[in-house]
Amino acid sequence: MIYLVGAGPGRADLLTVRAARVLAKANVVLYDRLVSPEVLDLVNPAADLLFVGKRDGEQEPIQQAILEELARQAHQHPHVVRLKGGDPMVFGRGAEEWQYLIDQGLEVELVPGISSALSVPSLAGIPPTFRGIANGFAVITGHVRDGFNEELKRYAQADTLIILMGTRHRARIADLLIAAGRDAQEPACFIENGSTPRERFHETVLGELGSVRVESPAVLVIGQVVRLRERLVPLLASGCLEATI
Ligand SMILES: C[S@@+](CC[C@H](N)C(=O)[O-])C[C@H]1O[C@@H](n2cnc3c(N)ncnc32)[C@H](O)[C@@H]1O
Repeated sequence: MIYLVGAGPGRADLLTVRAARVLAKANVVLYDRLVSPEVLDLVNPAADLLFVGKRDGEQEPIQQAILEELARQAHQHPHVVRLKGGDPMVFGRGAEEWQYLIDQGLEVELVPGISSALSVPSLAGIPPTFRGIANGFAVITGHVRDGFNEELKRYAQADTLIILMGTRHRARIADLLIAAGRDAQEPACFIENGSTPRERFHETVLGELGSVRVESPAVLVIGQVVRLRERLVPLLASGCLEATI
């Protein structure tokens, strides 16, 4: 059995119960760059941990090697885990891996994860929707195989825009959205390493995105909901949430 498991946004107790159970009985875990050390601490101590993160330019050869390694491991061990940041089916090539494995006659179980797309903004006090402010949202990638995702303009009118993989092209994202009619003064926020001890926020306006100093991984939110952060965060900072757990 190969388990395609979502590791959530980073904080270990944001894993699903199913994911924690599967990690505890794994024989081997192949994990990505986005999987946090806190989550890896929950893996069966006897399991082999194989890092299979990709860098720019090496995506395709490494992806093929990962597929072959997964199949090889599945012939040797009863519990093989493919662990991916967030949810495996959201910009994670999870479905491609699933298809390859079943084509090889292997059995696959999907264990969904909490995607960074929604959880990272919400944890920062930026809800994707809010009655009277935003009735909907779009989740888009800023980066595609060929570089900048020009298709972003098709989503430009969404009340809230949530952009993953948007750090490198942030200036172009701003230019494109302003050209498509969005206000350069609209609130925007990058949340870097959300839910982990390394979390950082960069609040700005759309027209200033190009001058923000931000590192990947980060989720970019554009829309009036960003303003809610100053109302909601004092509650988080006061420890209300921690106190109830
Ligand atoms: C290849 S996509 C994978 C998304 C993942 N499958 C998910 O559902 O969260 C990688 C992008 O997710 C976002 N991301 C993932 N984890 C994050 C985190 N903890 N904080 C901020 N952004 C994160 C960043 O935009 C990053 O560039």
